[in-house]
Amino acid sequence: MRTDTGQVINLADYRPTDFVLERVDLTFELDPTETKVEARLIFHRREGVDPSAPLILDGDELNLSSLLFDQNELAPERYTVTPESLVIRDLPETVPFEVTVTTIINPEANTQLMGLYRTSGIYCTQCEAEGFRRITYFPDRPDVLAPYTVNIIADKDANPLLLSNGNFLGGAGYGPGKHFAAWFDPHPKPSYLFALVAGDLGVVEDTFTTMSGREVVLKIYVEHGKEPRAAYAMDALKRSMKWDEEVFGREYDLDIFMIVAVSDFNMGAMENKGLNIFNDKYVLADPETATDADYANIEAIIAHEYFHNWTGNRITCRDWFQLCLKEGLTVYRDHEFSSDQRSRPVKRIAEVRHLKSEQFPEDGGPLAHPVRPTKYREINNFYTTTVYEKGSEVTRMIATLLGRETFKKGMGLYFDRHDGQAVTIEDFVKCFEDASGRDLAQFSLWYHQAGTPLVTASGSYDAGAKSFSLSLEQMTPATPGQPTKEPMHIPLSLALFAEDGSKFEPASVDGAEYAGEVLHLTARTQTAVFHGVASRPVVSINRSFSAPINLHFDQSPADLALLARYETDHFARWQALTDLALPNLLKAARDAREGAPIVCEQTFVDTLIAAAADESLEPAFRAQALALPSESDIARELGSNIDPDAVHAGRQAIMKQIAEAGKATFAALYDAMTTPGEFSPDAKSAGRRALRNTALTYLSYAESSPARAKAAFDGANNMTDLSHALTILAHRFPDSAEAKAALETFRSRFQDNALVVDKWFAIQAGIPGPGALDRVKALMENPLFKRTNPNRMRSLVGTFAFGNPTGFGRADGEGYRFLASQILDIDQRNPQLAARLLTSMRSWRSLESARADHARSALMEIEKADSLSTDVRDIVERTLK
Ligand code: PHE
Ligand code: ZN
Repeated sequence: MRTDTGQVINLADYRPTDFVLERVDLTFELDPTETKVEARLIFHRREGVDPSAPLILDGDELNLSSLLFDQNELAPERYTVTPESLVIRDLPETVPFEVTVTTIINPEANTQLMGLYRTSGIYCTQCEAEGFRRITYFPDRPDVLAPYTVNIIADKDANPLLLSNGNFLGGAGYGPGKHFAAWFDPHPKPSYLFALVAGDLGVVEDTFTTMSGREVVLKIYVEHGKEPRAAYAMDALKRSMKWDEEVFGREYDLDIFMIVAVSDFNMGAMENKGLNIFNDKYVLADPETATDADYANIEAIIAHEYFHNWTGNRITCRDWFQLCLKEGLTVYRDHEFSSDQRSRPVKRIAEVRHLKSEQFPEDGGPLAHPVRPTKYREINNFYTTTVYEKGSEVTRMIATLLGRETFKKGMGLYFDRHDGQAVTIEDFVKCFEDASGRDLAQFSLWYHQAGTPLVTASGSYDAGAKSFSLSLEQMTPATPGQPTKEPMHIPLSLALFAEDGSKFEPASVDGAEYAGEVLHLTARTQTAVFHGVASRPVVSINRSFSAPINLHFDQSPADLALLARYETDHFARWQALTDLALPNLLKAARDAREGAPIVCEQTFVDTLIAAAADESLEPAFRAQALALPSESDIARELGSNIDPDAVHAGRQAIMKQIAEAGKATFAALYDAMTTPGEFSPDAKSAGRRALRNTALTYLSYAESSPARAKAAFDGANNMTDLSHALTILAHRFPDSAEAKAALETFRSRFQDNALVVDKWFAIQAGIPGPGALDRVKALMENPLFKRTNPNRMRSLVGTFAFGNPTGFGRADGEGYRFLASQILDIDQRNPQLAARLLTSMRSWRSLESARADHARSALMEIEKADSLSTDVRDIVERTLK
C-alpha cells in the first residue's frame, strides 16, 4: 500500500514527457504468485529536449528483475531503481533506443485490485488510473500513446483463454503443458487502457455488421454455466453499437470486441480497448435474479463502456485533470442512449434524482471540487459524481445552448480534429465555439467553479401592459479553495402557462436572450420582461432540468398543481409534484423533532393521488411521481441541524396520510398494473411493475399489516417484485414472523448466487432504526459474508452508511465509530474501496450538534491512525477541514 502523503499534483505543472514512446511489446509468463513481465519499450527523445534529461519511468510496489538497454546489460551507474521509479541516464540524443524491463509480480497477493490480480481463479487487470505501473516500469500517464503487442504464456489447462487488447495474432503450444497467444492493438493507446485476462471462462458469441459493412465478432466471457445470463448484455451491446453509428456516426474499429465479467472489481466497469472488463453485477441478468433496475444499469453501463471507444480511447485525456473530458461526455452519451431506448422524461427524472442525491451533497460539502479540478493528491478519489454526473450535465447544457444540430456539428468537429490525440477540456469547448460561432468563455466556468449555483426567481405581472417580469438572481456558494465566484452562463429552459393550461407565446422578450424556449441567465441579477402575455402566467423554470442548479421560486400550491397537470414537459410535471411535496416533508421533519402533530396539505395529497390515477400518464412516470423525496433528499433540503430520526418520522407520517387518502386508488392500481404473460425487461413492463410496487408500498402504510406484502412475496415470479416485497416486509415489519420467514426463504433459495446474496445483505443493512448496527455486525459474521469482495462490502457496509440514515446516524454515534473501524480494516487491503466508503461521512457538518460531534471524533480516529493509504488520508483530511 502506498502511504506517501502530502504530494499534491497541480494542473499548472503539466508538461509533455521528454521521451516519445514509439511502441510497446509485452510478454507475460503467468503464474499465480510469480508472474514474469517483460516490457520492451522503444523511445526517442522529443525534439528540443535537453540532451542530458534522463528517462523516468513510474512504478508502484515493483521489483526489477532485469534491465537491458538496446538488448545489452546496462551499467549500474546509468540507472537508479526503487519500487516507485526507474531512472535511466546518459541516453542517445536523437536515435531511438530500446529499454527491456523485467519485473516479477504477485497477482494472488494483489488485494487492491489494481494492476494484475486474481479473482475466482481468473487473471485480470485494472489499470485506470495508475495501475499499469504496478505491472511494469512505464511512463504511466494518459498522454503517452503507443501501439501494443502482447504475448501471454500460461498453463494450458488452467488458462485455456488468453486475452488482451486489439486483434488476435495467433497462438500455439509452448513447451509442456503451456501455450501462448499474441495480440496486437494497432490503435495507439495510453497504458490505462491496457488489459489482460487469462483463465477458464464460458462465452456468449455474436456478430455485428458495422455501417461500412465490416463484421465484428462480439464475445462476452462469464463463469461457466452463467452464459444464459449474458444474453441481455449482448443485446444491449448490439443496440449501443448501432446507436453510436446512427446518432454520432461512430463506427467500431477492431475485428473483435470482448467483455469479461469478473466478481471482484472496485468500480462498475472499464473501457480497455477491445477488451472491456466488467463487474459481473453489470453483465449478468435473468428474470429470476435481476431487477428492472439491474437491467437498466446493465444497458447503461454496457453502452457507457462501448461509447468510450471514441470518447476516451481514440480521443483520450492529456492528463488526469481532464477526466471529465471522457467521463462527463460519455455519461452524457449513455444518458442519451437510454433516453432513446426508454422513456426520455422518466429517464430524465431518474438522472436528476441521482444527481441531486449524490452530486449535490458532494458539491455542497467538504469534498466539493470543480468538474475540471486543478489539483489532487490521489487521482482515484476524483472518480466522483461531480466529474461524471455534473460533467454530463455540463455537456448537456452545451447541447441546450447550441441546439441539437449545432451540438452535433461540434461533436463531429471534435471527432475529426482530435482523433488519435490526448486533449483537454479547452480543446473540447473550442470545437463547439467553432461550430456555433458562440463565445463559451463564461460558460466554461461550469468546468472551473465548484458548487451548485442557487438561482432565486420572482415574477410580477402587469395586467395593463400585458407584460410579465421575471427577476433572476444567481449565487454560487463558496467551496474549498474557492471563496468567491463569478456569475455563470445558465441556460434555463422556460415556458409560461395560462390558467387553462395552454402555453403563452410571448410577442417579445427584453432583458435576456430568450430563444427556443431557453432563457440565458448570464449576469448576477437580470430581469427578463415577456411582452404580449394576455393574463397572469404560471411560469415553469428549468424545465427538463436544463441547468444543474438549486432554484428558489415561491410558487403557490395552486400554480404547482397547474404545472403538475398541464406542463407539456413531463419532467417539469414531476418537478412540480416534488415542489409540492417538499415543504410538507420539511415541515413534517421539524414538527417531528418538536413532537408537534404532523399534517399534510390537502392540495398536495389530492394532486398526487390524481396523478397516480391519471391513465394518460405512463406508469413509470406515475411511479416516479409517487416516490417521495428520500430521507437524504429531505435532509439536504433542510441543510443544517439534521436529526435523521425526525426526518424519518416525519416522512413516515406523510406516507401514511397519503396512503390512507389514496387507499382505493392504490388498491386499484395494484390489481390493474399486472404484467401478464412471459417476463420482459422492457421499459414499459418495468414501468407497470414500478407503479404496482409503489402502490404496494403505500398499501403497507394504509393497511399496517404485512399480509399483502407477504402474498406478493409468495406470488412473485421475478426479482423486481420479489425483492420489493421482501424490502417492504423487512423495512416496515422487521420484527414480524413474515419478514423473518421471507428473509430465510430468500437466503436459502439464492445463497449460491452472489449477486442476489448482495441484495439480501443490502435489504437488511437498510432496515431503519438504531437496531441496524447490531444487525449489520451480526451479518458480518454470516458465512455468506466475504470481506474481500467489493460488491459484498458495498452491499452491507455501503448500504448501511449511505442508505440508512437512522441506523448509521443513530444518536449515540456508534454507527460512525463502526464505520471508522471498518475503514481502517478495509484500508489495509483495498484503499480505493475504503476511501469510497468513507465519503459517506461527507455531510457530517449538517447534522445536529451531538451527532456532528460523534461524527467528528470518528473521523479523527481514522485521521490519527499511523498507516493510512494516500486514498483514505486524502478523504479524511478534506472531510475534516
Ligand atoms: N473508466 C471507468 C468508467 O467509467 C471507471 C473506472 C475508473 C473503472 C477507475 C476502474 C477504475 O467507465
Ligand atoms: Zn466511463
